[in-house]
Amino acid sequence: MCGIMGYAGRNNAIPVITHGLSNLEYRGYDSAGIAIFKDGQIMITKKAGRLADLVKAIGEPPAANLGIGHTRWATHGVPSDVNAHPHADCSGRIAIVHNGIIENYAALRKELILEGHDFISDTDTEVVAHLVEKFYADSLENAVRKALNYIEGSFALAVISQEEPDKIIAAKKDSPLIVGLGAGENYIASDIPAILGKTDKVYILDDYEFVVVTAEGVTITDFSGNLINKEIFNVTWDPISAEKAGYEHFMLKEIHEQPDAIRQTLRGKIKDGLVDFSEQGLDELFDDVKKIYMVACGTAYHAGLVGRLAIEKIARLPVETDIASEFRYRDVLWSPGDLMIVISQSGETADTLAVLREAQRNGVKVLAVTNVVGSSIAREADKVLYTYAGPEIAVASTKAYSTQLVIMYLLALYLAKKRKTYDQKTLAGLGKELLDMDVMTEKVLQEEEKIKRLAGKYQNVESTFFLGRGLDYAVAMEGALKLKEISYIHAEAYAAGELKHGPLALIDTGVPVLALISQDALAAKSMSNIKEVKARGAVVVAVCKENLQEVCQECDEQILLPDVNPLLAPIVSVIPLQMFAYYMAIFRGADVDKPRNLAKSVTVE
Ligand code: F6R
Repeated sequence: MCGIMGYAGRNNAIPVITHGLSNLEYRGYDSAGIAIFKDGQIMITKKAGRLADLVKAIGEPPAANLGIGHTRWATHGVPSDVNAHPHADCSGRIAIVHNGIIENYAALRKELILEGHDFISDTDTEVVAHLVEKFYADSLENAVRKALNYIEGSFALAVISQEEPDKIIAAKKDSPLIVGLGAGENYIASDIPAILGKTDKVYILDDYEFVVVTAEGVTITDFSGNLINKEIFNVTWDPISAEKAGYEHFMLKEIHEQPDAIRQTLRGKIKDGLVDFSEQGLDELFDDVKKIYMVACGTAYHAGLVGRLAIEKIARLPVETDIASEFRYRDVLWSPGDLMIVISQSGETADTLAVLREAQRNGVKVLAVTNVVGSSIAREADKVLYTYAGPEIAVASTKAYSTQLVIMYLLALYLAKKRKTYDQKTLAGLGKELLDMDVMTEKVLQEEEKIKRLAGKYQNVESTFFLGRGLDYAVAMEGALKLKEISYIHAEAYAAGELKHGPLALIDTGVPVLALISQDALAAKSMSNIKEVKARGAVVVAVCKENLQEVCQECDEQILLPDVNPLLAPIVSVIPLQMFAYYMAIFRGADVDKPRNLAKSVTVE
């Protein structure tokens, strides 16, 4: 994980870099650092803790027109001042920031120590600084190129040297890196939000690309030095989308952005009620599909669970949804007619990317569902369907999930049309209902005060349960994940019918159970299970559709959802769970946007 930002230009580099890093903190936030030139020498300031601690440590920023910065999510070595990046060589004349993992660092470190290099940190990154030092003869560029021959693993690197204070050298393999192009100033960064508002022109680097960045220009080559001509990518994200825009936290803002994100994701894909993917060029991809594998991690996996049920139900096609870190070590029985769908907000998740590659190695085509244009997954997949959620900054995913659900439904409707499992009128009716989901989510957002009050009431609990059947179970899993990751309250999701096979033993007086009741055909069955937990002292909060209010009347509290088609209900039923998690975390004083131990982009296995 980790975020990298570099600047070469006319303005003071420090505020530019720290502002860029603030938009990359979602990638890691356990320590931060910056390297600039002061009085002809490299000056490194780095601090364990948040970026704000670094800014405080820097104080009044000294004048500097070039520098590199880093925000870290520790992999090798605890978060500490000394392990924070940038790292320097023995002489302090070279500084480096790195995102990724140098897999052979232990062997390299041993060798370099034998050669007389002094190491001060526990990180894998420090070996790169010493390797560059070892190979530095005529130019930094050549030294970095030589060092790259020795390192194995994943990296996005940025390096500066006291001998050549006008340039940043950067290189990439398996970790994201972009170059922002300004007038008389240029940037490098791990992701687009870092440069939003500075420039909308970027190069999205591919693996094995090597860049020299100065204020005046950018040169891109491969690792051997052959020039590469890349297309400039125009960023269309509004700079405000990476700001809080008056909300206290990104997560709350992003919860409220869901109606618009859903609208944007649906735009242009439903014509006369029927899903049309001709613009996305998907028709051939599905021609001979007999089975779909859907693979993802965390929240994206939960979207895949909904996708499985929706596609099986209306397109009558077998779907298997699995967790990427498990799937990649299975011995899958691939067959002709298999299609892989990977789902990833960031498009950089290491396990998901590995599954994509594994499927392609086995001759299976891959469709990616992602939010980030130019991400590794978007670039490597055979076809891409984008979610148009805009930048999601809070670590806990909200609007990316609801837009992933939209894509799942679009796929289900598209496949149903293609496979003629339903007549056009029925499908057009469903298409129309899907188009209305933006308005339906707006209605649920109006329940905020009630959900906040409930969170206030239950803020001190130690454990919670989320129950549901069918699609409600898939959403229950997402609700439990949201609550545990940001409020640190133990939360378990169970299929309502499974509880009595063991976990019912955990239900005791006062334990809150959030019960999802949006599936008309299963509501009565779920209520029987709710009675079982109530009989053991649980307090039950029902998240139920208006039309099922009667069925849910024995629950202690009700949060009402509009009466939508049960198939589409996950899009609305997840919202109260996201808000509940948010307010529980707020009442408990947790850092909602940056929960402990986590990072948004998980580029390690
Ligand atoms: C939870 C969350 C994570 C991600 C997971 C996959 O709120 O955000 O569980 O969903 O790390 O990330 P992506 O979708 O970027 O592959």
